[in-house]
Amino acid sequence: MLSNKIQDALNAQINAELWSAYLYLSMSLHFQAEGRAGVANWFAIQFKEEQAHAQILMNYVNQRGGRVILAPIDAVPSSWASILDAFKATLEHERKVTSLINSLFALAEEEKDYATRDRLQWFVSEQVEEEDNCRTLIDKFSLVGDNGMGIYMLDNELAARTYTEPSPLAAQ
Ligand code: FEO
Repeated sequence: MLSNKIQDALNAQINAELWSAYLYLSMSLHFQAEGRAGVANWFAIQFKEEQAHAQILMNYVNQRGGRVILAPIDAVPSSWASILDAFKATLEHERKVTSLINSLFALAEEEKDYATRDRLQWFVSEQVEEEDNCRTLIDKFSLVGDNGMGIYMLDNELAARTYTEPSPLAAQ
């Protein structure tokens, strides 16, 4: 059984993951409208991944006999000045998510809820990957700057990204 404190914190994290999904959907639509199909694809996959993150936590709350409370999702921005700006905003957002996960992990330890701590361990590792991916893309887009051919090639590269079910869902 989950304590109310942990259940509330997990529900807040579910909302944060869904907000992230909404943010990346907005980015995907923005770049689709701008004719950057590869960047739009990259963010569309990011949108799916965030939904999966929320799903992992929702399944976990139910598995522990808790209740998922779906709160309203706040509005997200709808335009970015450049691809580089969008990836910088993504990195900044993912850093915030990392700090939310770390706080949740610390709370689970404080409450001696080791099952929740174990579930969160996957998210701790996932955040390392999320931040690293963003940094790599910031480096690449910074390097090409305003060079049209460079942007065209990077857009093609991002078109190749495919979705992989995160392991906690794939195992179910
Ligand atoms: Fe669910 Fe991008 O962290």
